[in-house]
Amino acid sequence: MKTKGYKIPETMKAIRQHKAGGGLSYEEVAVPRPGPGEVLVKMEAAPVNPSDLALLSGSYLERSYPFTPGLEGSGTVVAAGSGFLPWLRLGSRVACSPLHGGDGTWAAYMRTSAMNVAPLPGNISSEQGAMMLVNPMTAMAFMHLAREGKHRAMVNNAAASALGKMLIRLTQSHGMPLINIVRKEEHLHELEAMGARHVLNSSSPNFKEDLSRLTEELNATLILDAVTGKQAALLLDAAPRGSTLVAYARLSGEPLSADPHALITEEKQIQGFQLGNWLHGKSLPFKLRFIGRVRKHLGDDLYSFISRSYPLQKAGEALEHYRANMSEGKILLKIGS
Ligand SMILES: NC(=O)c1ccc[n+]([C@@H]2O[C@H](COP(=O)([O-])OP(=O)(O)OC[C@H]3O[C@@H](n4cnc5c(N)ncnc54)[C@H](OP(=O)(O)O)[C@@H]3O)[C@@H](O)[C@H]2O)c1
Repeated sequence: MKTKGYKIPETMKAIRQHKAGGGLSYEEVAVPRPGPGEVLVKMEAAPVNPSDLALLSGSYLERSYPFTPGLEGSGTVVAAGSGFLPWLRLGSRVACSPLHGGDGTWAAYMRTSAMNVAPLPGNISSEQGAMMLVNPMTAMAFMHLAREGKHRAMVNNAAASALGKMLIRLTQSHGMPLINIVRKEEHLHELEAMGARHVLNSSSPNFKEDLSRLTEELNATLILDAVTGKQAALLLDAAPRGSTLVAYARLSGEPLSADPHALITEEKQIQGFQLGNWLHGKSLPFKLRFIGRVRKHLGDDLYSFISRSYPLQKAGEALEHYRANMSEGKILLKIGS
């Protein structure tokens, strides 16, 4: 293990969960050592994302217990296992994500593959950098899907989310119409104030008619659905012939429902999207170009608003606050502060 003079302690503080759906504890655990192709990141910041809630509830990704949550974050590479890439990253300030099934970012140190860290540009804070690998990459991937499928306009729900706001800014920069769906009136006004031209409230009695009219008018054939459940059937029904619905989360917690008529006679399609799987199928040059574009826009279109920060030991409190105020902005765990 190479450390370039960084002192690595034997033990550290970490957040641990001992069973699916169980509470969180703040514990002293051993600092992991990086193996071949791996690095050790001294963590600085990590957000709370919807995928963390799903992981903690036990409804997302198989895993063994106890484990440390946190699916993304930022920090400095302070130790490297064998291999060229780990050595190259030693000393870099990076955005990082855990090994598949491994312990996560809500700890003072995290061991991960050198392929799971991306150096942060000098003008990007560690706080913004902690949120680089999930939402900004996904928002950029959605723009790619739109271009690749030659879609003229898109629909997105849960649109007051951090990801939804990135998509609003990106589509504005690219001149692509976007129909935003929220479920609360205050979010409709918030998104309009951001300059979003088309915002609908799914709780309004005219929602379905307004959506059908707008999707036809704009020829919005790419439907991005984070809610799924019954809303998927409604979105698919309102979409123009030949549309594609991309299910990218299940915020409703319900199984996806759809009328087969839409698929059979109207040539509509349903597909799933998970960032990791999508990237996995891409070539290395594509991935490098893609990540370069994301890094370039982290300070503008792909910026995340941070509503509150908590020290690591208050992760439980941070989760409670986040659950009750998801659209308020990102909740960040400040580690080592
Ligand atoms: N598939 C992928 O690879 C991938 C990658 C990145 C993100 N995502 C997904 O993208 C979504 C947005 O992520 P984020 O980090 O940007 O979220 P976020 O900022 O934490 O906000 C979550 C949003 O979800 C809304 N919401 C929660 N439950 C809902 C429900 N039952 N019906 C409608 N809206 C609901 C909230 O609105 P209210 O204020 O109305 O509750 C809030 O605006 C999440 O579902 C996340 O899992 C998926």
